[in-house]
Amino acid sequence: MPPMVSSPPPGRRERVLSGMRPTGKLHLGNYHGALRNWVALQAGYDGFFFVADWHALTTDYEHTGPLQQHVHEIVVDWLAAGLDPERAAIFLQSDVVGHAELHLLLSMITPLSWLERVPTYKDQQAQLKEKDLATYGFLGYPLLQSADILIYRPAWVPVGEDQVAHVEITREIARRFNHIFGRDAQFAARVKAALSKFGPARTQYLALRRGFQENGDAAALAEARGIVAAAASLDEGERELLRANLEGEVHRLLPAPEVLLTPTPKVPGLDGRKMSKSYGNTIGLTEDPASIEKKIRGMTTDPARVRRNDPGNPDKCPVWDLHRLYSSEETQAWVRAGCTTAGIGCIECKKPVWEKVCAQATVMRERAAPYLNNPGRVREILAHGAQQANEAAEATMQVVRRAMNLVPPATAVE
Ligand code: TRP
Ligand code: SF4
Repeated sequence: MPPMVSSPPPGRRERVLSGMRPTGKLHLGNYHGALRNWVALQAGYDGFFFVADWHALTTDYEHTGPLQQHVHEIVVDWLAAGLDPERAAIFLQSDVVGHAELHLLLSMITPLSWLERVPTYKDQQAQLKEKDLATYGFLGYPLLQSADILIYRPAWVPVGEDQVAHVEITREIARRFNHIFGRDAQFAARVKAALSKFGPARTQYLALRRGFQENGDAAALAEARGIVAAAASLDEGERELLRANLEGEVHRLLPAPEVLLTPTPKVPGLDGRKMSKSYGNTIGLTEDPASIEKKIRGMTTDPARVRRNDPGNPDKCPVWDLHRLYSSEETQAWVRAGCTTAGIGCIECKKPVWEKVCAQATVMRERAAPYLNNPGRVREILAHGAQQANEAAEATMQVVRRAMNLVPPATAVE
């Protein structure tokens, strides 16, 4: 289960951002591996969740036919799972062209070797032999992902283990950008101007800043932040400037985000391998209950348990992994006792699993119903999300364009 999150007042919440590629309807593996966590996070964080349609093109540029359908289906499943457009911004990557602009600008400073050494680059080329992955777009996949992230300046990026390397390169790119474009004479001058408004607290502030920057004294950092926060003579822009200055020698134009690692439980497919669309062994999140029951009835069990009288071993049975996700401790104890003594049959054992999975699917199907045959409503939700996303993205792009001298420098009032 995802960690319980407290709910700070809106406006003070930390921002989280994550995305998924539109591969069509979601299955239980997608739910337990990511979506369930997003739904939990939207309560305590300022959530930005998007469909990475451009990312889908990086591995599948020839098959764009089903793209619209896939986008519709994934958003319906997000809503079905309880993602709430009133609480989080839900949007489509290609509706926020800033991602492309930032990707282009970051590409100017990204060493090729950084992209070539991202593990997924060589792994996927080796695994997906049937696809043409010798493209510029595929090499740039992690950089597009960096742009997706950095444009929102989120504190956290909730992802599974498989995406950690992508957040890592995002952090490196942020640091490189800040290093190259954050060191302008104006920055130093603005810091100085802000400091001169401090009055007597200035000396104390400088000593604390030195304490943190030279000796890594975290208490000094906290105290200096307190002085900045309490300085009534500063406006919000000046406070932000000093907070950035406190933490490093350069302006944090693009703050480096942290990974919020999603615990990924084992979700077995019908054949016992990991549940995955490419194995054709999935159970859909909003699948019809009769079909779910039929699939689970036919699901692989402990291969050593051939006859009803043979005892089994739950640890070697994929059905057990579903019990771990869906059943109470009591039911789990009943399974272990019954399986290892041949006291229960496999169909008997599977019944509580399909009942729980079907009950969940029924709730989700109800939530999905109003959207299923209504792509217009899904589009409206995406348009609303895109408005929020564009606003946040544009604020960052103004900082980025100015830092790169693509627009005239800020005027004194800013
Ligand atoms: N690469 C991610 C995946 O395949 C999807 C993604 C694209 C993403 N951009 C992102 C995830 C930004 C988190 C943040 O699952
Ligand atoms: Fe698996 Fe349950 Fe059958 Fe044991 S009784 S082998 S846990 S399905």
